[in-house]
Amino acid sequence: MEKLAVYIHWPYCARICPYCDFNVYKRKTDDALLPAILADLKHWRDLSGPREITSIHFGGGTPSLMTATQVGAVVETVEKLWGMRDIEIALEANPHEMDIETWRAYCAAGLNRMSLGVQSFNDAALAFLGRDHDGTAARKALDLALEIFPSASADLIFGWAGQSPTELASDLSILLDAGTPHISTYQLTIEDGTAFARAEQRGQTRAIDAELSADFYDIVRGTLCTSGFDHYEVSNFAKAGHQSRHNLAYWRGWDYVGVGPGAHGRITTNGKRHATTTYLTPARYTKAVSNTGTGIDDKALLDSEAWSAEYLLMGLRIEAGISLSRYEALAGAPLNSSELKPLIEGGLLINERDRLKASQTGRLVLNSVTERLLLA
Ligand SMILES: C[S@@+](CC[C@H](N)C(=O)[O-])C[C@H]1O[C@@H](n2cnc3c(N)ncnc32)[C@H](O)[C@@H]1O
Ligand code: SF4
Repeated sequence: MEKLAVYIHWPYCARICPYCDFNVYKRKTDDALLPAILADLKHWRDLSGPREITSIHFGGGTPSLMTATQVGAVVETVEKLWGMRDIEIALEANPHEMDIETWRAYCAAGLNRMSLGVQSFNDAALAFLGRDHDGTAARKALDLALEIFPSASADLIFGWAGQSPTELASDLSILLDAGTPHISTYQLTIEDGTAFARAEQRGQTRAIDAELSADFYDIVRGTLCTSGFDHYEVSNFAKAGHQSRHNLAYWRGWDYVGVGPGAHGRITTNGKRHATTTYLTPARYTKAVSNTGTGIDDKALLDSEAWSAEYLLMGLRIEAGISLSRYEALAGAPLNSSELKPLIEGGLLINERDRLKASQTGRLVLNSVTERLLLA
């Protein structure tokens, strides 16, 4: 049976961080959203037919604003609709919203992986990033996540203006001391329309330059790879058995349900793959579900060019790379780029039998590698 991952977007945050351009709204509760999400899941079951569920991921926004009853209702609904066995059920949490009783109740509701938005343990950095937690709260939440859940992950941001290599090393060493088995590291990106973008337009620097960023990436990689982590995706490092099964579904090109406001999905039926997006605002999303049974706003057929390009773009992010025969089946022709050979000879790509992978150096400049492959 074909595999299917389930993504639930919970778009609310207690406050909006100055660098964030996700589909988020400043609010803490919304009783109308959960019934809409549950109804939309039923619609997705009709679309997908019977499938093997690999994972449920509560992302946001701040899904740790959900009650355990709400989380449990989603898990139960997925189980009723598709059935499930030994799957990953993960939720993104902000340290500030940590509540021991709720977290234990999440665990009882089936959650087995906590993904914590630590960002940093440095108080000044957290204030600069506009976060509502400090370093002590981050460490407390991390210890609790590691105690309660079978698996846990921490998000780290690096590369804000003024950050020193020592500060980055200190954040990494706290994560290692705590025994964190999965770490996602993101370089601070200045996204259009955010408060940080406006600050930069006024001439106030928020992020480091590209050269320093490569040095910081080396620190992250060097520290984590010598500490037993597998650098299995551009931004992700895991100890054995702790890779994100949900994110791997995206990178491997599997199908995924996308429910909740502004969620993206992919669904393949009868050899045709569609990309779905839902209405962005919670109000429009819930209204659409009550009027039509689904919050899907757009369902676009991916032609073979778009489908194969997406497979390549996502697949080269992971250590395992892509299958060239799978690419050929999707594209209708082999990957016949004139750039392939120079990229392999230049050490940016590796070809091992049917697999094409980005080397460590290649992953550092992945955007330009994939651009060359797809344009040539
Ligand atoms: C959508 S957030 C959800 C997690 C949770 N709401 C939080 O912020 O802690 C997922 C992760 O994306 C990263 N992120 C979001 N915007 C970013 C940006 N502009 N630059 C770098 N990382 C970013 C953060 O590390 C964050 O933890
Ligand atoms: S970074 Fe997380 S907490 Fe901050 S606004 Fe974005 S989703 Fe919300």
